Amino acid sequence: MHRSTVICSLTIAALFSCVAGVATLEKRQASDSGIPTVDDVTNPVCKPFVAIRDAIMGDIFHAGGRCNDNARAAIRLSFHDAGTFSLSLEAAGEDNGGADGSFLVDPDEVLRTENNGMQNIVALLKPLPERFNVSAGDVLHLAGTLAVLACPGGPVVNTYVGRGPVKNVNPHNLIPDTHDTIPNIIDRFNDMGISVREAMALIGSHTCARQRFVDQAFANDTFDTTPEIWDIRFYSETKRNESDPGVFRLPSDLGFAQNSLTKDDYNRFVGSLSTQEDWAREYADAHEKMSLLGQDVKTLTDCTEIMPETIHLRDITVTSSGGAVDPAVDPGKLEAEIQRTRSIWLQ
Ligand code: HEM
Repeated sequence: MHRSTVICSLTIAALFSCVAGVATLEKRQASDSGIPTVDDVTNPVCKPFVAIRDAIMGDIFHAGGRCNDNARAAIRLSFHDAGTFSLSLEAAGEDNGGADGSFLVDPDEVLRTENNGMQNIVALLKPLPERFNVSAGDVLHLAGTLAVLACPGGPVVNTYVGRGPVKNVNPHNLIPDTHDTIPNIIDRFNDMGISVREAMALIGSHTCARQRFVDQAFANDTFDTTPEIWDIRFYSETKRNESDPGVFRLPSDLGFAQNSLTKDDYNRFVGSLSTQEDWAREYADAHEKMSLLGQDVKTLTDCTEIMPETIHLRDITVTSSGGAVDPAVDPGKLEAEIQRTRSIWLQ
C-alpha cells in the first residue's frame, strides 16, 4: 500500500508545482467488506462516484475481483486516451490529447487501427457520463483504476474526479507502436511527460494483457503465463524470452528488456515478492500521473477513498513455495480474498 505519493500537475504552467499527496491507505475508509459504502465516504464530491464504481465493477467487470477481458481493455483504454497528450503540441498551442475521455465522445477514435480491440469497452462505458451526470474523462479513468484492482495483485491507484468536458479529438499517430524503435517510443513517452522509469513501471500492466491484432495467427495469446494475476512475471519471462505456450512477446517489450535506454529501469522489476510490492507502488504512482495528463490536478478532487481494498499477492501465494522467486498463487486463498473483498459485485 502507498506510503505517500507525489502528485504533479501536468499543465505546462503548473508542471513544476508538485504537491505531496496523502497516504492512500489513510484516504480510504476500509469497511469490513473492504468496499467503502456511501456512508463511509467523507467527501461529498466523491459520494456519487460510489454508484459509478459499482456500475463498472458489477455490471462491466462481471464477477468483480477477477481480471476479465473488459478490465484488460479498460486499462489499455486509459493509456490510449491519456497517451495522446503531448508537451510539444501543447507548447505550440495545437490541439492536444490527454486524459479527458474523448474516446467516449468522438465516435471515430475507437475505429483507428491502433485502437482496435477497445470497441466493446468503449460501448459499455459510453452511456455512463450521461446516466450519472459526470464527465467522460472521469468515467474512463475511474474504469482504468478500478480495472487495475479487478486484477488480483493490482494496487490502489489514487483516483481523481472533476475533469471538464472533452476539448478536442485525440490527434493521430501519438500512441506508440510495438514495431517502432525503442528510442522513438521513449521520446514519445518523454513528450507525454512520462519518464523512462515510469514507462517501465507502466509497461508491467502487460502482465494482465492479451494480443489479437499484432499477429492474428496467435490471437488471444497473453504476455505472461499468469494473465489473471497482477504480478511481475511479465518482466522476468519477457527478459528470458523462452517459448511459453500461449504467450506472445511484443517486439517493444523485448526491446525494453535489452535496450541500453530502458534495461536498467526494466530490470528493477525482475525479482521476488518484495519486488512485486515495489512495482505495485511505482505502477500506481505512474498510472495516477497518466490519468492526469493534460489535466490540472489542483482543479480536481481526490476520491481514492471510494476504492476497494487491494488483494495483495503476498496473502494469496502458496506457503510451501520451495523458495521459488515467483511463488504460485494458491487458488483457495485467492478465492477467499475475492469473496472477502469483492463480495457485493460477485454474481
Ligand atoms: C510502448 C508502449 C506500448 C505498446 C507499444 C503497447 C502495445 C500493445 C499491444 C500491441 C497490445 C495488444 C493489442 C491487441 O492486439 O489486442 C497491447 C495490449 C495491452 N496494453 Fe499495451 N502497449 C504499450 C503500453 C501500454 C501501457 C502504458 C499500458 C497501460 C498502463 C498498456 C496496457 C495494455 C493492456 C492492459 C493490454 C491488453 C488489452 C486487452 O487484452 O484487451 N500498454 N499493448
